[in-house]
Amino acid sequence: MDLKAKTIGVLMGGLSGEREISLISGENCVRALQSRGYRVVRIDALHDVAQRLRDNNVEIAFLALHGRYGEDGTIQGLLEVMGIPYTGSGVLASALGMNKISAKKIARSSGVPTPDFCEIDPEEPAGEIAARIGATLGSPVMLKPVNEGSSLGVVKCKDRAELPSLVERLRSEFGPIFAERFVAGTEITVGVLYRDGQLIALPVLELVPKREFYDYEAKYTGGMTDFILPARLDPIAYEQSQRLAIAAFRAIGCRGYGRVDLMVDAAGTPWFVEVNTLPGMTELSDLPAQAAAAGLSYEDLVETILHTALT
Ligand SMILES: Nc1ncnc2c1ncn2[C@@H]1O[C@H](COP(=O)(O)OP(=O)(O)O)[C@@H](O)[C@H]1O
Ligand SMILES: [Mg+2]
Repeated sequence: MDLKAKTIGVLMGGLSGEREISLISGENCVRALQSRGYRVVRIDALHDVAQRLRDNNVEIAFLALHGRYGEDGTIQGLLEVMGIPYTGSGVLASALGMNKISAKKIARSSGVPTPDFCEIDPEEPAGEIAARIGATLGSPVMLKPVNEGSSLGVVKCKDRAELPSLVERLRSEFGPIFAERFVAGTEITVGVLYRDGQLIALPVLELVPKREFYDYEAKYTGGMTDFILPARLDPIAYEQSQRLAIAAFRAIGCRGYGRVDLMVDAAGTPWFVEVNTLPGMTELSDLPAQAAAAGLSYEDLVETILHTALT
């Protein structure tokens, strides 16, 4: 198929809390596609997105959305119904990737190690939950919303006495939450990309936040995190991380491209934390940096992603 003869809609903005980041990702992708000679229209993916897609005669959707209604399978479902091919993962993998517990269960059942966790029933008294978490996961422990991103609502709890009140607070603010064993060690993220007929793991990026962990502040304040590429892992742990990233990506059924976050413990064992099915594409984002380290320019990366719509 000659993609240059098609109208490509770059879907950006949208309805999620990550709207602003998505608008930047989208604008960059538009410019990259135009520079390679594609016919592109910008589509803000608001409630009337179906109308906008029709009005602009969009034939291929390039997804530069993040978070809810973009990364969670809903827009993918709409595009399936409309018969418009789109970049990246399909409905099921997108929905699974958005739900951290589902993603962990699938990873684990496919032999991809992921830190132990406790599901938290919305009705269970916080005191009982705290006792259960303490007994099974030890301390410190991470508490996380099941369905958020950008480290929103992610808390490291070092003091068991604070667990009940933290559970109560997060539950009322974010709905479903869970607890996860804390992995002390190196935080890394691995880009995965389908290119030239195969799935490849890009060079591993290490994140060294100047805070307790890679929280919202560390993510979005310049200078609060050091980025080290390639990551300072021994060659065995490095390769193992790339292998696990691809294994998790495949197990969850992702397509095209994505970014897998892992923690590598002191013994050099990588643990799967989460998959991002529509990772950021701003000039400061991780995936473009990882692609650059593999010799792919931003435009090369965007063009490669575009082709994932046809796989
Ligand atoms: N099990 C863990 N052990 C240690 N740190 C963790 C663990 N899980 C998450 N973190 C820290 O919390 C951050 C956010 O957690 P993550 O699950 O990636 O949520 P988000 O989807 O918001 O990025 C990670 O980038 C990492 O710094
Ligand atoms: Mg993350």
